[in-house]
Amino acid sequence: MANETKAEVLTAKREKILMGGGAKKIEKQHESGKMTARERLASLLDEGSFVELDQFVAHRGTEFGMAATIAPGEGVVTGYGTIDGRLTYVFSQDFTVLGGSLGEMHAAKICKVMDLAVKVGAPLIGINDSGGARIQEGVDALNGYGEIFKRNTLASGVIPQLSVIMGPCAGGAVYSPALTDFVFMVNKANMFITGPQVIKAVTGEDVSSEELGGAMTHNRLSGNAHFYAADEAECIGQIKKLMSYLPANNLEGAPVFACQDPAERMDEVLLSVVPEDANKAYDMHQVIEAIADEHDFFEVQAHYAGNILTGLIRLNGISVGVIANQPKNMAGCLDIDCSDKASRFIRFCDAFGLPLLTFVDTPGYLPGVAQEHGGIIRHGAKLLYSYSEATVPKLTVITRKAYGGAYLAMCAKALGADVSIAWPTAQIAVMGAQGAANIVFRKDIDAAENPQAKRAEKIAEYEEKFSNPYCAAERGFVDMVIEPEQTRYYLIKSLDSLITKKEARPGKKHGNVPL
Ligand code: HXC
Repeated sequence: MANETKAEVLTAKREKILMGGGAKKIEKQHESGKMTARERLASLLDEGSFVELDQFVAHRGTEFGMAATIAPGEGVVTGYGTIDGRLTYVFSQDFTVLGGSLGEMHAAKICKVMDLAVKVGAPLIGINDSGGARIQEGVDALNGYGEIFKRNTLASGVIPQLSVIMGPCAGGAVYSPALTDFVFMVNKANMFITGPQVIKAVTGEDVSSEELGGAMTHNRLSGNAHFYAADEAECIGQIKKLMSYLPANNLEGAPVFACQDPAERMDEVLLSVVPEDANKAYDMHQVIEAIADEHDFFEVQAHYAGNILTGLIRLNGISVGVIANQPKNMAGCLDIDCSDKASRFIRFCDAFGLPLLTFVDTPGYLPGVAQEHGGIIRHGAKLLYSYSEATVPKLTVITRKAYGGAYLAMCAKALGADVSIAWPTAQIAVMGAQGAANIVFRKDIDAAENPQAKRAEKIAEYEEKFSNPYCAAERGFVDMVIEPEQTRYYLIKSLDSLITKKEARPGKKHGNVPL
């Protein structure tokens, strides 16, 4: 030791740190299908681009054996690198070191990269694999979480924040991901506030970790996660793809890609996608894919609230956020979950300057006691709020039904759509002709000699009057009625014309979105 040069001392120290919790723990990590914290960063970032910070940070715990415990890297690897050449700040919790648990200095390392990311205006990606607050450190660990939560909140809308759940994520640890923009979950990872054992003790319910807070549970049921991946490699691919659509911060534009797909490409599928029978379902994915560059629709929250679709496409190389009713699922009705899903996505896109493209085919808000008692009024209002608040270019395409409140909620002209396009199959009315006839003409129908025939006559009358796009077009609520196959062409033209859009709002501290 005495003969070691200073450089050798550094190398020896570094080698120890690079081994994290040691060979055995690394082996265990691999056996459970997980990469180590460093391997994850190596596969996420461009080769050789990672610059590590705070490699030598150490904990200051003294209780419960901590004075004698060495925690290499303090259980988290932090720094920056590039993804497709673009600067990104990262942290990756090291489960091999004290179970990736978060202590005071572990939190300080994370806070440092968060602060740097905000200062330079670069995205932050956090890879979570941790037993939560380091039990031995008590309130110091809790305070560390608080510092992170505050930074997550202050960075919201300034830089994109992505959370990746690749292992356990328990207790308050789930709240940092919840405060970020997108949560990726890998099969076998889990998130919960209190685990199965505590639940059993408190409520008597028997539930497995997977059922309680597994990746599919959060993707399909709770809506806490936005992306599901079968394994870590797939997850990393999803992260890189999402990043390609996003700007580095709220003041910069998203990358614009060279587009080989002709702007005037017409897709025949659009001619027949809407069935003759207005009550027949179809898959809105077909519409989105037909108009997107290279037919590529990168769906966000694909497993949750399938009655609305959210995701990203490019139009002539420009990133665009898509929100679309899905007639194939609950006829495209708006309910509580889909309102939450879409509103959050709209607000993300608006915060980061991504234009909004809305496809409308919805018979309305979902009727029912459960929805009313669950607060559909408040949740549904989020859609009205987010669209009205958004100042990015807003494009709306009405393919078929646009009824009642849902017509407004799906970015109608009144909510600030810059361009509203309707297909000839569009029906813009207070409600469907059947329902309307039953209410408005009930007396006529009841008094008729042949009520059936009268009803049919009144339905036809209402349909002729309102079940088309022309009443709305006559008033300028629809800017153009076009042949469906021309949609891509007109959307690209519209986007081109709106790219310099500026819309001012009165100064205020912040609005009060109906949460
Ligand atoms: C200190 C921890 C730890 C923790 C795990 N370890 N969690 N050390 N604090 N929170 C240590 C273990 O002692 C063990 O150390 C090593 O990490 C690996 O853990 P194992 O239990 O052997 O691994 P596994 O069987 O895979 O189980 C992982 C686990 C489990 C599910 C995460 O460890 C667990 O339930 N941990 C506690 C989770 C929890 O309740 N956290 C506190 C939440 S409260 P050795 O030395 O044996 O290898 C919280 C409040 C924050 O976070 C509030 C903020 C608002």
